Amino acid sequence: MTSTTVCAVIISALFLVLSAATAHYIPCSESFSLLAQTKNISNCKKQTTLGVEFGWEINKQNANRVDILVGVNEQPDLRWLAWGVNPQKRPQMIGTRAIIMLRHLNGSLSIHTYNITSDIKQGCKLLPSEVEVGFENKLAEYEATTKFYTLHATVILPSWYNISRLNHVWQVGLEERGLQPMMHPKSLDNVDSTETINLMDATAEHVDKHVNHLRMVHGILNIIGWGTFLPAGVIIARYSRYPLESKDKWYYFHVSCQITGYILGTSGWVVGLWLGHISRYYTFRTHRLYSMLIFAFTTLQALAIRLKPEETDEYRKHWNLYHHCLGYSLLVVISLNMFHGINILKPHQAVWRWAYVGILALLGVIVIAFEICTWAKFMRKPKPKPQEDPAAPGRKENAGNS
Ligand code: HEM
Ligand SMILES: *[C@@H]1O[C@H](CO)[C@@H](O)[C@H](O)[C@H]1NC(C)=O
Ligand SMILES: *[C@@H]1O[C@H](CO)[C@@H](O)[C@H](O)[C@H]1NC(C)=O
Ligand SMILES: *[C@@H]1O[C@H](CO)[C@@H](O)[C@H](O)[C@H]1NC(C)=O
Ligand SMILES: *[C@@H]1O[C@H](CO)[C@@H](O)[C@H](O)[C@H]1NC(C)=O
Repeated sequence: MTSTTVCAVIISALFLVLSAATAHYIPCSESFSLLAQTKNISNCKKQTTLGVEFGWEINKQNANRVDILVGVNEQPDLRWLAWGVNPQKRPQMIGTRAIIMLRHLNGSLSIHTYNITSDIKQGCKLLPSEVEVGFENKLAEYEATTKFYTLHATVILPSWYNISRLNHVWQVGLEERGLQPMMHPKSLDNVDSTETINLMDATAEHVDKHVNHLRMVHGILNIIGWGTFLPAGVIIARYSRYPLESKDKWYYFHVSCQITGYILGTSGWVVGLWLGHISRYYTFRTHRLYSMLIFAFTTLQALAIRLKPEETDEYRKHWNLYHHCLGYSLLVVISLNMFHGINILKPHQAVWRWAYVGILALLGVIVIAFEICTWAKFMRKPKPKPQEDPAAPGRKENAGNS
């Protein structure tokens, strides 16, 4: 079938474009490497998220004494930059012993240590405190020539940390109150900012490739299923009788479009639920809630195949109104949730946003063209006597399904 071919082409094209954007080992930028060299730090890697770069040098006499340099390029609303180690099994926010560089509104920089407990995630104030990890030679700097904010420290790790399996975490925030860093944004970049690194050979375990692929599959299936087939099916239902005048085939086209959209969309939704399940440390609540509503109500719409009253039935008219209203509202909620999901990818959302906006624009152009056709035809026809020509402007009454 042609639609399957088109589908396959779109999916593989998106895959190509998007997988190019998810490279794994990234060396440091030249300017950050030079900054690191001036501090006698020779190992350096770009972190996978937030544009943060990380340099380190293990002390020759004592392997648990490590010089670190963490940097991020200047961004107008950057207010804090954090780095920390976590003694627990997994790298995660809670339990992290962190060092945070703050950029105050008066222009000065300061640097302190913080113990990040579960209370902080619940909304308690994060204030400087002692931590079990030693942070000496703390230094926060702005390097004007390369436009880098950096934090430097000599980290003295207690014996229960292992530098060949060190859980470390980095983060940036856009708000501070004095010495208190405020909540960071919650996009994927901000929750993916953890890894287990081997400082001896510079290898790191990050969010694995599978998760990245699943995210892509999730996005593509949803955009094609809920975002393309479903609205296309609605358009077919609305315009096929008039102006297209394919009186019998339209219902078949409408239903097969909706079934395809429903199957693709539901598969995408299931992948999304799976993604939510494996990301134990965070949830995107609004996105998830909307997705549940969308699934529930599209299922209700799908039941229309079985449950719709007979053509002759008295409340068929009311039923049609209900089916249409729910259909249109669903399209609105779907596109809102689509933008919501795309926003989670900040700041890598551009390709997705353009792809989806492109689809919306295409659908919009088709709708406008059909509307113009409808009106042109309607104007050209001699005014029909109301009882004799039920096909023309009365399409609302007998458009069974949308
Ligand atoms: C300033 C106060 C902070 C608050 C209120 C806060 C709150 C949160 C919340 C609510 C989440 C979950 C996001 C979601 O479910 O969508 C989260 C995730 C995360 N935060 Fe924070 N955070 C703070 C500071 C920090 C700092 C300083 C760091 C780094 C040192 C950090 C690193 C992370 C990481 C890596 C995640 C990903 C999930 C995890 O590992 O638990 N946060 N934060
Ligand atoms: C870097 O190492 C050289 C040679 O060991 C030393 O002279 C210099 O002071 C060190 N610089 C810093 C910033 O530690
Ligand atoms: C830091 O927080 C942990 C709980 O996450 C606690 O066990 C530890 O004693 C705290 N450290 C200090 C120095 O207060
Ligand atoms: C650190 O971890 C590595 C790899 O897991 C292991 O081979 C090594 O024995 C550990 N070192 C210590 C001091 O626990
Ligand atoms: C700037 O503000 C911070 C936090 O309010 C304060 O600790 C610091 O002393 C101020 N620095 C200057 C130079 O005024």
